Amino acid sequence: MTLRHFLTLRDLSSLELNRILERASELKRMQHNNEVYQPFVGKVLGMIFEKSSTRTRISFEAGMSQFGGDAIFLSSRDTQLGRGEPIEDSARVISSMLDIVMIRTFGHDIVERFASYSKVPVINGLTDDHHPCQLLADLQTYIEHRGSIEGKTVAWIGDGNNMCNSYIEAAHMMGFKLKIASPAGYEPKEEFLTEFAHCVEVFNNAEDAAVNADLIVTDVWASMGQEEEQKHREQAFAQFQVNEKLMGLAHPDCLFMHCLPAHRGEEISENMLDHKNAVVWDEAENRLHAQKALVEFLLNENMKQS
Ligand code: CP
Ligand code: NVA
Repeated sequence: MTLRHFLTLRDLSSLELNRILERASELKRMQHNNEVYQPFVGKVLGMIFEKSSTRTRISFEAGMSQFGGDAIFLSSRDTQLGRGEPIEDSARVISSMLDIVMIRTFGHDIVERFASYSKVPVINGLTDDHHPCQLLADLQTYIEHRGSIEGKTVAWIGDGNNMCNSYIEAAHMMGFKLKIASPAGYEPKEEFLTEFAHCVEVFNNAEDAAVNADLIVTDVWASMGQEEEQKHREQAFAQFQVNEKLMGLAHPDCLFMHCLPAHRGEEISENMLDHKNAVVWDEAENRLHAQKALVEFLLNENMKQS
């Protein structure tokens, strides 16, 4: 049997995804009730970070502690990965000592190569192309506030990169319509759009995408690794800010999400995080619960096989 990884959302079936989302809310209730639940005493998660993080690191680390296990933070700056030890060699060594691994890196091929040499499940904690862990939290948050997302309309305003790609996969798996508004030249890759044409529509202005939306989502204009493009992107994305006016075009119950960190005055207006329909703090907290459900799923699936 093949080892289960979580490199993109589509490494799960829609049924598995829905079960993980339900379990995430259940684990959240248990955590809020101070229930001690430690099924993974002695299990160790390795977290390899080649990019910065607040939420991803803390949620995985806290989640493993709550499960009775441990998490090790591995920065590429301090490991031999940063000095050129091949991914394939690192994967064999690291996975021989750990039970599960999370990687945040640049090229998506890096997590794929690591996974193909790993003896344990590998989780994508963000690459240039996907951020599936964030989608678990976003979907959980939508469902907790509004019920099923099936048949709803989600507007993605901004860059057509990692977050947007994971939203495209989510639209396909959860049965919602995704309206994408990106500046010309910053749309998702053409072949990806073609593959998901049944659930995705692309617009060249934010207003058209926002009309009647049930959820509006955005992200930073310059992602990690694109810092030198900041000024150029500020011009290209200037008409793609999420603000109260844009929210006014959407359904009155429309939620607003942002994976954070946010830049007030750029992709969002100064007060957008305080909007009555903004659920960004619940969304951030749900990283903890959703990833605990994911880790539980992957460790249990893996145990079934060994
Ligand atoms: N949203 C998110 O992944 O946050 P961090 O970069 O802080 O992990
Ligand atoms: N698109 C952003 C997401 C940060 C969580 C980035 O890649 O930097």
